[in-house]
Amino acid sequence: MADLGLIVLAAGKGTRMLSNLPKVMHQVAGRSLLGHVLNTAAALAPARLVVVAGPGMPEVAEESRKYFKDAPTVIQAERHGTAHAVSMAAPYLADFTGKVLVLYGDVPLISAGTLRELTEAVTTEQPLAVLGFRATDPSGYGRLIIGRDGTFSSIREDLDATPEERAINLCNSGVMAVDSALLWQLLPKIGKNNAKGEYYLTDLPGLVVDQGSKLAFRECPETEVLGVNNRVQLAAIETAFQHRLRQEAMLNGATLVAPETVFLSVDTKLGQDVVVEPNVVFGTGVTVADRARIRSFCHIERSTIGEAAIVGPFARLRPGAALERDVHIGNFVEIKQAVIGPGAKINHLAYVGDARVGAAANVGAGAITCNYNGIEKSLTEIGAGAFIGTNASLVAPVRVGEGAYVAAGSVVTKDVDPDALYIERGESKILTNWVKRYFAGLRARKAAGAPPRSK
Ligand code: UD1
Ligand code: MG
Repeated sequence: MADLGLIVLAAGKGTRMLSNLPKVMHQVAGRSLLGHVLNTAAALAPARLVVVAGPGMPEVAEESRKYFKDAPTVIQAERHGTAHAVSMAAPYLADFTGKVLVLYGDVPLISAGTLRELTEAVTTEQPLAVLGFRATDPSGYGRLIIGRDGTFSSIREDLDATPEERAINLCNSGVMAVDSALLWQLLPKIGKNNAKGEYYLTDLPGLVVDQGSKLAFRECPETEVLGVNNRVQLAAIETAFQHRLRQEAMLNGATLVAPETVFLSVDTKLGQDVVVEPNVVFGTGVTVADRARIRSFCHIERSTIGEAAIVGPFARLRPGAALERDVHIGNFVEIKQAVIGPGAKINHLAYVGDARVGAAANVGAGAITCNYNGIEKSLTEIGAGAFIGTNASLVAPVRVGEGAYVAAGSVVTKDVDPDALYIERGESKILTNWVKRYFAGLRARKAAGAPPRSK
């Protein structure tokens, strides 16, 4: 929308979060609250966007650049209210012709469709539109004052409201769209003669009416405008957002056996006929190809899982795990920064990190890639069709050739040629009747009254 400028208010410290992190940097489904708002904002393709941050929040500007590379972040050094916060954006928007949309950085679930509708409600006759919602509990919110004839005339803040006004449940979400020229013309007229002694952006609608124009409002479901003030509300938003992600995943063709126990990230991609069993956590950056099955109790982040692969139960895929098609990863296996070739199997109790495993290789129970010497990480290469025996330790950098065989318990410190056997083991002995002789000796010592052996 070429005629749209956006202001995102994010100067709140979030005192009630009791956190070192700015409130808007707390995450929902692997993305910051601010990131959610900016991601939605990006869908509107605004001509300009300004983020208003508080002092000492470098993270906010950094996060903003991820979504809008060139968007300025301005600092509101002292909080004097929402109108004051909006005025901070004037250097970047006062000359803008079009509509300005004000969003809150701590209201992450708002949809692009709702914002588009609100923006379209702004016309020459109605140069300001407010997004309202019916609150289950309206206390604390500003109320939309609607006359008997249905005209919207002003917003009254909770603290300044009469008891009759407090009974209104149509509340201000805080989201407002307004003609840019009018915004900058009226903003300086807002005073702070109110209960909080702050410059309220919510005084703007009244001023618009005073200068002879009409107002518009739109309603959206309360769930879209849930805000975050504390960690209980953060968790409530996480719950609402997870519900949305699970619905999307299922409607796109993945089976979630117990959806409420599967945790997804904003960018989790599940292919068609993927089955996710109960209790699986997807961190960010995970792609699962068609027909793969993620069995119960897996933790997966920044990984790709190939077609028809089977992972888990109880597997951990850490960043850089890339499983190709038909790979089987079993219980208590950890994979990190490793490409596992088609059809390879790592089924029990193994750690494979910084590795390349060839097609159809078999890595046995308890096998470990010793990838870290305390200072640096090194690569282990396992050729196609190789067999790594139980409890083998592969001391990287090391290469096991195609079709080679590593005997159980070996510590592999040298490269193994293709089709060779690597075996490293002490010679085994069997001493016939040793146990009987040993105990007979001990009993004889005791019977003779020998003192107990000491160190
Ligand atoms: C505001 C609205 C209220 C609405 C409610 C919805 C005003 C005066 N009131 O009240 O009508 O029902 O939101 O949640 O606007 N902020 C700044 N700088 C400031 C003050 C606020 O950046 O100086 C930011 C905050 O970080 C927050 C947003 O603006 O993201 C809203 O501020 P907040 O203090 O939460 O306003 P409310 O009292 O909740
Ligand atoms: Mg608030």
